[in-house]
Amino acid sequence: MNEWITRKNFLLLTEEEEEALKSLQPVVTRHVDELVTAFYRHLLRFAETRRLLSDELITTRLKDAQRRYLLSLVTGPYDERYRDDRLRIGQVHDRIGLTPKWYLGAYSLYLNLLRPLIVEEFRNRPNQFQTVVAALTKVIFLDIGLAIEAYILKSSERLEFANRQLAELGRDLEKGLTKKRKDLQQTQEQLRQAERLAELATLASGMAHEIGTPMSVILGRAEYLMHRTGDEATKKGLSTIVTQVERITKVMNQLLAIARRRPAERRAVNLRQAIEENLEMFRERLSRHRIQVEIAFAESVPLISADADQMSQVFLNLIMNAIHAMPDGGTLRVEGTQVNGNLRISLADTGHGIPAEHLSRIFDPFFTTKETGKGTGLGLTVVKGIIEEHGGTITVTSEPGRGTTFTITLPLGAGH
Ligand code: HEM
Repeated sequence: MNEWITRKNFLLLTEEEEEALKSLQPVVTRHVDELVTAFYRHLLRFAETRRLLSDELITTRLKDAQRRYLLSLVTGPYDERYRDDRLRIGQVHDRIGLTPKWYLGAYSLYLNLLRPLIVEEFRNRPNQFQTVVAALTKVIFLDIGLAIEAYILKSSERLEFANRQLAELGRDLEKGLTKKRKDLQQTQEQLRQAERLAELATLASGMAHEIGTPMSVILGRAEYLMHRTGDEATKKGLSTIVTQVERITKVMNQLLAIARRRPAERRAVNLRQAIEENLEMFRERLSRHRIQVEIAFAESVPLISADADQMSQVFLNLIMNAIHAMPDGGTLRVEGTQVNGNLRISLADTGHGIPAEHLSRIFDPFFTTKETGKGTGLGLTVVKGIIEEHGGTITVTSEPGRGTTFTITLPLGAGH
């Protein structure tokens, strides 16, 4: 048995009763206007229902709808279309913001209005009267049930929507929190780096004093002895001492560059010019290594407030690194563009690249991949320090075998 039939059976609504309801058609048809008017007048007595009836067009439509409703109530057929029609009425009420207590209460109003008319109509037919009243009560119960069902359906839709919104909000919140946590972590990492550099600077100046003097004495004596001796083996030994002392001095000087770095002295700097000047210094080396240089600097790139010497040091280090990365030649491409309020400069080489496991460490002090004795591992630390002191950032991307790109972003500052 299908669900709809079962539902009517459960209501004890029989086919005979459905048939009997038709005997109400003449009385409802005769009185439909006065029933609808009485219904409408009742709705006007309550502020909550009255506010929905301020529009004349809506009122006309509602009265029409009520007429149709009353006639279908006593006509049927009480089939699945009847059910769908009732569910749709529920949806309309929901859409206009009418709450169940009002439209459910209104069924009682209709029963009250209909009862005296039915009593009058069936005054001389008491048996039929019983059947008809029982049938009408059941059909109205059916309508009430369907009105409640429509309400539940709409409510669960709303609930589902609210749930989805809530879940989305939860996800956004979670994302926000994760990002925030990461930004906190990042600050911590930057602080740690800054502390390490500060410690290093103190250490370096201390060491420079402690070691610098004996080193120059050693160097002086070794050179003096080298000139004095005629013995080749001794000469070779002394020459090693000189080379190694020079290596120590180089590290010391780099360390001192960090330690003694004075605060940036800013003035308007043309970075394109600064880069070209540095490239000029390396012209001979670049051509010897068969390295082509491409410069793509947007004409409109403005001057930047920066310390010219420090910026020069940045490009010197990066160009030197690029040359080392391309022993067999290649291309060094320098680009400069204005992106929002920043100047973005990238230096891309087509060299051997940096393995992924080294990439995160290349700005760390003393990190070097060059052969022992060839690099101090401080060049990029100095570069990063300078860029950050200018309020900028430097990032690196690299693909082993294809090349490395350093990207510097510097704020143009107010006025640009
Ligand atoms: C016995 C209870 C009620 C029944 C059987 C009923 C029936 C209906 C029907 C058949 C429609 C037309 C639906 C459609 O467009 O398909 C309707 C719409 C409407 N009903 Fe009711 N209604 C009842 C109670 C109420 C109450 C208490 C109010 C209170 C003001 C109300 C206000 C409205 C309004 C404003 C519309 C929309 C009219 C329009 O814009 O076309 N109804 N109702």
